[in-house]
Amino acid sequence: MPRGGPNASCLDRLLETDRQEYLDRDGALDWAGRFFKSHQRFAAIALDLVADVPDPRILELGAGQGGVSLQLLTDHPSAHVTVTDLHPESVDRIAASDLGSHPRAEVRQMDATEIDATDGSYDLAVFALSFHHLPPSQAARVFAEGTRVAKTLLIIDLPRPPAPLHVLRLATMLPLAAVLPFVHDGIISSLHSYSPSALRALAAQADVSVELSGGLLSPQIVVARAASS
Ligand SMILES: C[S@@+](CC[C@H](N)C(=O)[O-])C[C@H]1O[C@@H](n2cnc3c(N)ncnc32)[C@H](O)[C@@H]1O
Repeated sequence: MPRGGPNASCLDRLLETDRQEYLDRDGALDWAGRFFKSHQRFAAIALDLVADVPDPRILELGAGQGGVSLQLLTDHPSAHVTVTDLHPESVDRIAASDLGSHPRAEVRQMDATEIDATDGSYDLAVFALSFHHLPPSQAARVFAEGTRVAKTLLIIDLPRPPAPLHVLRLATMLPLAAVLPFVHDGIISSLHSYSPSALRALAAQADVSVELSGGLLSPQIVVARAASS
């Protein structure tokens, strides 16, 4: 399925790539998360979803440098957070940071498409700025797995603008992409981003019900629950 959804236009179908981001190895994304306060905004959205749970158990998938998890622990007095990432070097880095010794944090290596946890282990699973890294077949697995292990799955990801606007945005970024790794990653991520109709189609494949909000000029917010719950 195209990243623009099952009925994506021809132009939208061209706005895709198989190239990979450098990922956040230099910490630029984490720095931006702190500077632009997106960690705080993402944590607030997540905590709102567990507002009626006294001591929520939260799983963060694709935690990168762990900025969102740290914010969750700072902003909630009794939440327990399992902080995970696919890449062992990210997990080692998180374990060596303040999060590694936080009394309410557990740091583990985990694949969001094959989560090593029993059904219903968590009140909430969070996957922030990571979903677009996965091709459609794996992305649908995240819906299935996230809603299997947690009552609610929160995906926060980049918006995919309508194709003409997308072209314009990419054109403004292109001149800086050769010199700034952060901009290079921004372009690749933009080409990988999923449209709302793609997100709905992937959720339907996994038999998961979703509520979408945000998008266009702000991140897309996807709240997913198993269709039977
Ligand atoms: C752009 S970073 C986002 C980091 C963090 N969530 C944030 O908001 O700052 C994307 C992360 O997704 C992780 N990732 C990619 N594929 C994954 C998968 N299948 N399961 C878990 N994490 C994955 C990468 O290792 C990377 O750390």
